[in-house]
Amino acid sequence: MTLRSVLEGVGSYLPETVATNQDLAARGLDTSDEWIVQRTGIRQRHIAREGETTSSLAIKAAQRALDMACKTPQDIDCVIVATTTPDHLFPATAARVQAGLGISRGFAFDVQAVCSGFVYALAVADNFIKSGQVKTALVIGAETLSRLVDWTDRGTCVLFGDGAGAVVLGGEEGARGILSTHLHADGKHYQSLYVDGGAGSTGTFGHIRMDGKEVFRHAVQHLAGVVDEALAAHGLTKVDWLVPHQANLRIINGIAKKLNLSSEQVVLTIASHANTSAASIPLALDAAVRDGRIQKGQLVLMNAMGGGFTWGAALVRM
Ligand code: ACO
Repeated sequence: MTLRSVLEGVGSYLPETVATNQDLAARGLDTSDEWIVQRTGIRQRHIAREGETTSSLAIKAAQRALDMACKTPQDIDCVIVATTTPDHLFPATAARVQAGLGISRGFAFDVQAVCSGFVYALAVADNFIKSGQVKTALVIGAETLSRLVDWTDRGTCVLFGDGAGAVVLGGEEGARGILSTHLHADGKHYQSLYVDGGAGSTGTFGHIRMDGKEVFRHAVQHLAGVVDEALAAHGLTKVDWLVPHQANLRIINGIAKKLNLSSEQVVLTIASHANTSAASIPLALDAAVRDGRIQKGQLVLMNAMGGGFTWGAALVRM
């Protein structure tokens, strides 16, 4: 029998404050609901209030995933947080989450692969579990991108939102679990999507800068490629569900068409969550598991692309 990482629980958390497209226009941003919806599918985004941080959102999402998995924090051997908006440059946000959950054993660290971060973190945890080094892992995607956007740049600020999603992974022998993960990066494109500061080595504070058309072009190409790669690895031509990174409805629809999926088989949260970077896949997954759409035994494909560029996919038997 094959040892696999089974998704034993999922959870998510969204800040209570919501800003609609109309709210942004009303605050003086030169934009409109019509433009944003037509180009991206986004209608609103959740915004962390003062005092809420990436770790505080992550802790709430993690607690919900632990409850679903019927696990206590002490069952967790490893906490991995995928984030681009850590609470501090160090320690890792995962260490803050670990402490917040009352865990004082095992290990904790962050993964930085921007919007692909959750898929990367899932792959890392999966390999720890398959190697026998970890029995139970907590994998979280959490972001407070509202703190990183330039609110005067209408080309980027309308796209992003805050939130967190988490999964509890446990090693089990059988057909269920993560079947494979597929990761890629090509760092020569970093200037198409990056933050112009905010790192210890530059001593500056930065904001998101993006060449939207260039990102769009690469996203379509890379996401299609990695989806083919994941299916080919298992001789598959279809899956039950696509749970994509929620960046742009037009990109998601293109991939769904390629997979011959009906719109009902694609989990969409972009309209209400916007792009929450590393949090977007586990937020969408949690929504579709909790409302009963995604059922045990079904095949789920997750795919993501983000700054770096990084991209990847994970194929999971729920
Ligand atoms: N409201 C109104 N007008 C706007 C806005 C806005 N929020 N933003 C830009 N515009 C204007 C531009 O200024 C430009 O005006 P001009 O013609 O007078 O110069 C016009 O709209 C067209 O701008 P473009 O940037 O060419 O618009 P485009 O069709 O490329 O759409 C978008 C922009 C939505 C950002 C698109 O390129 C995109 O979705 N790219 C992918 C980016 C992405 O998803 N990034 C997320 C991070 S990476 C990831 O998660 C995959």
